[in-house]
Amino acid sequence: MNRLTIKHNELTAEEFIFLWESVWGKGPTLEQTRLAMEHTLFRVSVFDGDTIVAMARMNGDMGLDYYIKDVVVRPEYQGKGIGRMLIDELLRFIDEHGVSGTSIFVELCAMPDKIPFYEKFGFAANEAQRLKMYYQVK
Ligand SMILES: CC(C)(COP(=O)(O)OP(=O)(O)OC[C@H]1O[C@@H](n2cnc3c(N)ncnc32)[C@H](O)[C@@H]1OP(=O)(O)O)[C@@H](O)C(=O)NCCC(=O)NCCS
Repeated sequence: MNRLTIKHNELTAEEFIFLWESVWGKGPTLEQTRLAMEHTLFRVSVFDGDTIVAMARMNGDMGLDYYIKDVVVRPEYQGKGIGRMLIDELLRFIDEHGVSGTSIFVELCAMPDKIPFYEKFGFAANEAQRLKMYYQVK
């Protein structure tokens, strides 16, 4: 592994799909993903030399609420502290943009086997259930 580089708000739709497919199978379409990248509040990507190895993104309103999405480290790079780097970057963004001294709600959705990873940063599950649907856009 070379020296890792962290980039802010440079993650492209193509890179997003590449990383998505390295862990979750078939990714979303390029058109949807381009729109999503354009409107994401904060994107983080990590490079080993010229190769992208990890990403995370976050939406939010800066004042009250943030939502973390798509935290991915390529399988061959997992277990080396890169996931921690991603979350640290997201939390630093909140520190830099939130109202100093206030509490801000930060949410995410995690599969049970990933919960211990997020607990290391202070996240904890509550009794709320996730409601979801795949809405067909007309
Ligand atoms: C979850 C994920 C982002 C973690 O990234 P990573 O680079 O492997 O994590 P790190 O090496 O930075 O680990 C940081 C700490 O969390 C711990 N950790 C990481 N994954 C863990 C897991 N699944 N369960 C328990 N602890 C975990 C590490 O042991 C390390 O602990 P330490 O700092 O006390 O030594 C990575 O496994 C991944 O991309 N998985 C596939 C995609 C995914 O499911 N993302 C989460 C979406 S909710």
